[in-house]
Amino acid sequence: MLRRLHHEQPASFAFTPANEAWAEAQISKYPEGRQASAIIPLLWRAQEQEGWLSRPAIEHVAERLGMDYIRALEVATFYFMFQLQPVGSVAHFQICGTLSCMICGAEDLIDVCKEKIAPKPFELSADGKFSWEEVECLGACANAPMAQIGKDYYEDLTAERFAEIIDEMAAGKVPVPGPQNGRYAAEPKSGLTSLTEFESGRAQYNASAQAAVDLGDTIKRIEGSEVPLAAPWRERGANHAPAPSSVKLNETPVPVTERAAMAAAEKATELAKAEQKPEEAKAKAEEPGKARTEAAPAGGRRPEALAAPRAGKADDLKRIKGIGPKLEKLCHALGFYHFDQIAAWTEEEVSWVDQNLEGFKGRVSRDNWVEQARLLAEGKETEFSTRVKKGEVY
Ligand code: FES
Repeated sequence: MLRRLHHEQPASFAFTPANEAWAEAQISKYPEGRQASAIIPLLWRAQEQEGWLSRPAIEHVAERLGMDYIRALEVATFYFMFQLQPVGSVAHFQICGTLSCMICGAEDLIDVCKEKIAPKPFELSADGKFSWEEVECLGACANAPMAQIGKDYYEDLTAERFAEIIDEMAAGKVPVPGPQNGRYAAEPKSGLTSLTEFESGRAQYNASAQAAVDLGDTIKRIEGSEVPLAAPWRERGANHAPAPSSVKLNETPVPVTERAAMAAAEKATELAKAEQKPEEAKAKAEEPGKARTEAAPAGGRRPEALAAPRAGKADDLKRIKGIGPKLEKLCHALGFYHFDQIAAWTEEEVSWVDQNLEGFKGRVSRDNWVEQARLLAEGKETEFSTRVKKGEVY
């Protein structure tokens, strides 16, 4: 299937403050240098928020994870769960057209889509509420034919029942997902022949359908405040968890509640919104090697910067864990070229840099650059810089 970015793109993308806090919590699950592992959840949340994945959204996620845009684009274009063009404002229907579903009536479901939504896949219905596509096996073959609608599976469909589901959604209802022919899960239609003792006392719906009913987010856009932020690994003091903004450098992070973590992240987002962009142009106009200082903005003080590296040679800042090629470039644009510069930053200065790393906010304190830079400036190695030296980290 040819999957390309849509020809019309929005100018920008930003997570809502609550989704931003959620994204930060997801990133904190992974060890340093492995933040890219959060790519799928972050892309998915961007899609849950906007309905589809725009180029600015993909680039925003790539920047948050310190990835090249092309890497994030590869993920977004590979998985067909990511919609690369605007889809129906209420729901997008993904009809499984693989073997089991096809021999059990998938073509009839596609006919319903053509009749009730639009003749072609990805075409919006006249009212803009719905769109559809045919997809490969979604792994619910025992309940064929089936369709994924929003986040949930509707199984054991018939053309009639599927048409009713579309009508119900058009009327603002969300039918219960799961089997639509009376089956509880994937047991024989005639009923259980074994394990019958488990029939009594079970939940009203099977686990997936029950969760869908409980969460109620089948086709809902997710703004992020629907459920409290869950980040239990932070409570357990995982050593790769970023410190919330209220924790000062070099202090032992204290356990925070999930809500407190969310509030801290929201506060950081507000601060970031209020800030100004760094004055990169000014630096270029100055003499190489000449130190310069600027007025302290709210939320920190700008560290002393250089207009160019001393003796024309910058330190390899990528030896600091958390700094990749993009961040190194950004540091240079801000006038930071050497380990000893970073090692000398005060808490106030760390706060300023944290807020001015466009696309990488909070990285200095999260990755403790100052301590790493101090060791490197003294000619020592960190565990990470040793791995860089051995060529184990790229
Ligand atoms: S063939 Fe349709 S879910 Fe597998």
